[in-house]
Amino acid sequence: MDVSAWSTQQLAEFVAVVSTARSEIAAARVAVERTAEALDADVAAIVCGGELIAAVGFPEGATPVAELESARPGVASSQELVVPGVGRCVAASAPLEHPPGATLVVARLDELTAEETGLMRGMARVAAITMRMLSVLDDERAAREEIERLAREQAALRRVATLVATGAPPKEVFATVAAEVGQLLGADFTELTHFLPNQAATVVAAWSATGELVPMFDPVALGAWKLTTLIHETHRPERMEYGEDNSPLVTSAPPVRIRSSVGVPIVVAGHLWGVIAVGWAGDKPPPPDTESRLADFTELVATAIANAGAQTELKASRSRIVASADETRRRIERDLHDGAQQRLVSVALQLKAAQATVPTEHTELAAMLDTVSGELTSALDELREMARGIHPTILAEGGLAPALKALARRSAVPVELRVGMSGRLPERVEVTAYYVLSEALTNAAKHSDASVVHVQVDTVDGVMWLSVRDDGTGGANPARGSGLVGLRDRVEAAGGVITVQSPPGHGTRLEIRLPLEHEPPDGF
Ligand SMILES: Nc1ncnc2c1ncn2[C@@H]1O[C@H](COP(=O)(O)OP(=O)(O)O)[C@@H](O)[C@H]1O
Ligand SMILES: [Mg+2]
Repeated sequence: MDVSAWSTQQLAEFVAVVSTARSEIAAARVAVERTAEALDADVAAIVCGGELIAAVGFPEGATPVAELESARPGVASSQELVVPGVGRCVAASAPLEHPPGATLVVARLDELTAEETGLMRGMARVAAITMRMLSVLDDERAAREEIERLAREQAALRRVATLVATGAPPKEVFATVAAEVGQLLGADFTELTHFLPNQAATVVAAWSATGELVPMFDPVALGAWKLTTLIHETHRPERMEYGEDNSPLVTSAPPVRIRSSVGVPIVVAGHLWGVIAVGWAGDKPPPPDTESRLADFTELVATAIANAGAQTELKASRSRIVASADETRRRIERDLHDGAQQRLVSVALQLKAAQATVPTEHTELAAMLDTVSGELTSALDELREMARGIHPTILAEGGLAPALKALARRSAVPVELRVGMSGRLPERVEVTAYYVLSEALTNAAKHSDASVVHVQVDTVDGVMWLSVRDDGTGGANPARGSGLVGLRDRVEAAGGVITVQSPPGHGTRLEIRLPLEHEPPDGF
């Protein structure tokens, strides 16, 4: 074969093989293999800045990088190189334009011909161009991955922010954050911990990539978690690496040993509230920006907690107001009953005794005492009626059904009452229903011009349900008085819902639903 045709053919084959490489390092490896083959060299290598990039022909780990690098271009084929197992060889080298400062070196027993030297330069150029192209692609891929990663992070933050904005309960926000953060950071375990007084803490949410978590939400003394304890002291983000013997065990099924972890503090209104901790089972240390990525989430968590705190305080103060008003009413009723009422009763008895002693001829005095006695009786009746309005004794004694019946009996507008429940309900529910009906019947009498009021009370699936419907003028407007607003406060404080429908000309319908079980609002 013609010499130049031979080198063209070799170069074409070289291009074909090297261009199939997927990474820079793979291209370098293929390049040295093909170069050694084409030039029948005993060794070939690409070195750069004291580092070996790829080599063939040397025993594993025994590539003499420094010697190869000293095979300067321009003095091609003029350096000696001792190759183990071959002997004294002649080295030739050609510079690579990429990576900067890299050199392609070959060595064999005899010198390269001029033709071969030319071919080697050509191969060096092709290898450099291919490697540069792959490195640009690599950069581009990394940039694309970074953008995708940011987009994923933004999406996760947006999901959590939406939850927070809609006022979702903090428990739900915690669970979502634990899962989102875990997935985003490629972690094996995430845990949200809330600090309690007296060096204790409680897990409020946990997530595991490997399987179901065994729940463990009881308060625990702080020392149990090293990372959390450390953050409790420093108030700063911290990271930890664990050896085989001291690595924490996550009680998931199957259990996982954590090898490294990163935690950041959750600060609410200037106070250290808790920690988000993320753990990995692998040996690789977590990326350096993990702390700052976590911090974005802790801010949302803090907002959720602060919001819920404000809500909780509002609800609690509302319940307190309603409860203390009820308590005052109860006390006044008792005072009236035990005080004024008893005294009037005993005065009435004394009067009776006095009446009995009046001589028959004193008819005028007898008539006067009769009048006083009559006044006294009606004063007593009035007092009793008043006391009943202040706090319904019948409610405490007989329960909701008889109390509602009494209200219906006394109503100025006729009432059709249907009671679908029996027995006692929680006091909170009975008292609330009583006051709602009392106000609704008073409104019907005062404002509605109705001919009848339909009242229905039921308990369905753990909920008490009361509906009051009149056939009057409608047009009730809570903004025009204080009664309906007071009812809303009372019902909501008791954990219930009230609706008022009152289209003008179509009567008024008032409905409340009250859960029989009601957990007073707590921190989260
Ligand atoms: N059943 C009803 N039918 C017609 N109008 C009503 C009825 N209930 C209430 N309203 C109207 O709505 C207003 C607000 O009612 P409420 O809050 O109970 O205040 P109040 O009874 O002290 O006026 C009333 O002033 C009245 O104009
Ligand atoms: Mg009213």
